[in-house]
Amino acid sequence: MPQLHLRTVVVLAAGEGKRMKSALPKVLHPLLGRTLLGHVLTAAAPLVADRTVVVVGHGADQVRAHLAEVAPEATPVLQAEQLGTGHAVRIGLDAAPDAAGTVVVINGDVPLLRPETVAALVDAHEGAGAAATVLAAEVPDPAGLGRIVRDSAGRLEQIVEERDATPAQRALREINAGIYAFDAARLRAALGKLSADNDQGEEYLTDVFGLLVSAGEPVAVHVAADHVETLGCNDRVELAALRRLLRDRVNEGWMRTGVSILDPATTWIDVTVAVDRDAVIDQNTQLRGGTVVGAEAVVGPDVTLIDTVIGPGATVLRSHAVGAEVGPGASVGPYAYLRPAAKLAERAKVGTFVEVKNSEVGAGAKVPHLSYVGDATIGAKANIGAATIFVNYDGVNKHRTTVGEAAFIGCDTSLIAPVEVGPGAYVAAGSAVSQDVPPGALGVTRAPQRNIEGWVARRRPGTASAEAAERARQAAAEAAEDAPEA
Ligand code: UD1
Ligand code: MG
Repeated sequence: MPQLHLRTVVVLAAGEGKRMKSALPKVLHPLLGRTLLGHVLTAAAPLVADRTVVVVGHGADQVRAHLAEVAPEATPVLQAEQLGTGHAVRIGLDAAPDAAGTVVVINGDVPLLRPETVAALVDAHEGAGAAATVLAAEVPDPAGLGRIVRDSAGRLEQIVEERDATPAQRALREINAGIYAFDAARLRAALGKLSADNDQGEEYLTDVFGLLVSAGEPVAVHVAADHVETLGCNDRVELAALRRLLRDRVNEGWMRTGVSILDPATTWIDVTVAVDRDAVIDQNTQLRGGTVVGAEAVVGPDVTLIDTVIGPGATVLRSHAVGAEVGPGASVGPYAYLRPAAKLAERAKVGTFVEVKNSEVGAGAKVPHLSYVGDATIGAKANIGAATIFVNYDGVNKHRTTVGEAAFIGCDTSLIAPVEVGPGAYVAAGSAVSQDVPPGALGVTRAPQRNIEGWVARRRPGTASAEAAERARQAAAEAAEDAPEA
């Protein structure tokens, strides 16, 4: 179908965000898996704009680098001096001289905005053939925001900033959300007439509305159904409040698709995560980045998963994982640490105080307690005893260890890589293995044990140990006396 309207999106992201008190530009602060700017670009994505311009200024290099990563199709345009939102849009449009049709302008700090709402604003605007349409909302607390001023017939008269408002205008609770649709030609004409004659000495984009009204152009107000979507972010307290609101929205979405979230107030799921039906997410759990949780998996309590894939029916308890894969029905934790490229096959077990990095743990294999597994391939059904260390680093290079199918590694063993323990082989507890163990063999490197009789009585006299040993010696002697003669 041919596109009926040419569309340009201009995102305003040049401001410093002074009240964030941060070295990071405000629009780059993260909020459940995307930056503020990333959220805004996502909300605008379904418009399928011919061009997306992002006006950058403060921290321009950082913002440009971020755009190259998350929205390479967007064009960053520099506003060297922040002379106001009107000035910013003018600079943005200078970089899009052929922009015709609809120009959608979005403040870069409105991250809860939904794509549906932007689409509805644009539809209303284009449907009415308006020169300009502003997204408005009734809010409980309009402090600091621009107010929508209507005439007695309810038509938009102007948008007035709080600092320039009369007391009567300040009492209005209908605010400008900072999201607009404009007819490109009429926007350009009005931008040329903006003045900086206001309390901040800036060119206000919002003054475009008053200018268009004076010129007899049709302008419109589109009221957002949910004012929460229009909340901006000016400091870290507001950012935390937005994060809670987004958390609730995300959790509610997953619960409605059939995911159990036992304590939504302590469950933080990035917008980029996917969770399958009948998964159970227990309290104090964070699912971040590209994490995917399979059907009927149980995750939590006290789990953080970053870019980690959890297979169907797996369980993860009180653990931390980054860049790992956990197979179907596998079990992790409590207190496990899975690092990048840790791959657990189906029904594998990685238990308590176990760290796994760049290793495959085969189907049904077990690493239950107190181990480090680095750069290893562990075969199916192998059993790795408590306190086994895969010694992968010689101070210069990393080396791999292979443990074959159904091999058995005794407790407190060091496997000094590169080394291979064959299928079905055993390694005796307490060994330091630096040579391959053939399939089915027992590898043992322990020194034979010797007992030095009476050592404690001679070398530790008067200690509790010596007393206990003496009591045991007497008891044994009495038992021997009482024993019936054979
Ligand atoms: C703006 C609106 C206000 C609205 C509010 C909604 C104006 C004059 N006022 O006020 O009516 O209620 O948003 O949140 O537009 N920016 C630039 N270059 C500049 C100035 C700002 O790119 O020279 C960017 C900022 O980075 C920010 C956005 O524009 O993303 C809005 O600027 P901000 O200073 O936050 O405007 P508000 O005072 O919040
Ligand atoms: Mg703002």
